[in-house]
Amino acid sequence: MAQSEIDLTVYPDECDAFGHLNQAAFLSLFERARWEMLARGPGMNIFTLADAWPAVRKTAIDYHAPAFPGDVLRFQQSLIHHGRTSFTMRQTARRVRDDVLIATAEFVFVCVSRDGRPVPVPEVFGQFMAQPSRGAGHRLTVNGVGIATEVRGEGPPLVFIHGYPLSRLIWEPQLDRLAGVRRVAPDLRGLGLSDAPDLGYSMAIYADDLIALMDTLDIEQAVLCGLSMGGYVAFEVLRRARHRIRGLVLMSTRAEADSAEARRGRDAAALLVREQGAGAIADSMLPRMLGASTTATKPELVAQVRRLMAASPVAGIAGALTSMRDRSDSISMLPELGDIPTLIVAGAEDTMIPLDSARRMAQLIPGARFSIVPEAGHLVSLEQPEAVSTLLSEFLSTIP
Ligand code: MLT
Repeated sequence: MAQSEIDLTVYPDECDAFGHLNQAAFLSLFERARWEMLARGPGMNIFTLADAWPAVRKTAIDYHAPAFPGDVLRFQQSLIHHGRTSFTMRQTARRVRDDVLIATAEFVFVCVSRDGRPVPVPEVFGQFMAQPSRGAGHRLTVNGVGIATEVRGEGPPLVFIHGYPLSRLIWEPQLDRLAGVRRVAPDLRGLGLSDAPDLGYSMAIYADDLIALMDTLDIEQAVLCGLSMGGYVAFEVLRRARHRIRGLVLMSTRAEADSAEARRGRDAAALLVREQGAGAIADSMLPRMLGASTTATKPELVAQVRRLMAASPVAGIAGALTSMRDRSDSISMLPELGDIPTLIVAGAEDTMIPLDSARRMAQLIPGARFSIVPEAGHLVSLEQPEAVSTLLSEFLSTIP
């Protein structure tokens, strides 16, 4: 069950003559936290887009302790019932300073159309709230933004960088299986469970976040493993802090910048996500995300990947699109990477990024290893998890 956390500050105008947060103001804060959760998630317009308005049918609030002006309250939201046309949300408010429980509330909603008829709860809302709450992992504040990060195991660090519009969940099999390495997998800003500010996206900013994250985790040098957009970020880290990279895995990615046509496609996709939400992006990308073999044989994985994309915050998707659109060409760097052990991995059935791009990188990086994974498309880490984990282990064992 999804749980999201939103921090809100108590203002004097919300308090009574004795300075307590007023009971009516609590209702506003609970409501603000729910909208903020959607704003940082699939977008505030998911209900209007589906022509289904969530009308409150019942509210129950327990007030446990007073709150005062200046208190920062952490609101946690979870979906405790999901019916066809109704749903129930449970919310708690705790004071951040001393973790005191201030109030708990349950809200029952019925979705109605404009003429007041009950209509189904929008699918995107259910998908968003169904994201696993596990894996908030560590929440590290990096460059002022909360970055959800999974850290597992001990040993030389391996930092995973996911693609677009995905999250660190694409590395779940490798996080589980690889032994003898410290596996670090952040959600890039704007995606997964990381904060999604409205502005502040570029390859340089993603790279700066990663470098700052490494600093925070006391990682001097790491092997970077980037899938697709994650590879674009890895190139940017190379530009900015090459000495921090011990090895490089470039998976389902390319070194070329976007063509003029691809750049126009990014703008069209940014418009689509702003107007129609993350679900529309998920639908348009799903056919190219997975290989034909996976699509034919693993329907649960297809559904999981669609859910993952549809749950991405709108601001983060739009930010990733402009970042990819404006990224630099990295081809000229490749011949200079001979001193960094590099593995290139591509899915044999990838239709998102042509295999020729992977071959070109393999030819241009002196000494690079190159593996094509059969029966896998773009999301090779999820489509052939064991093969990818084995490739990574073998590669890591070759790095001095
Ligand atoms: C990704 O998977 O990260 C993106 O699809 C890459 C791209 O669109 O260039």
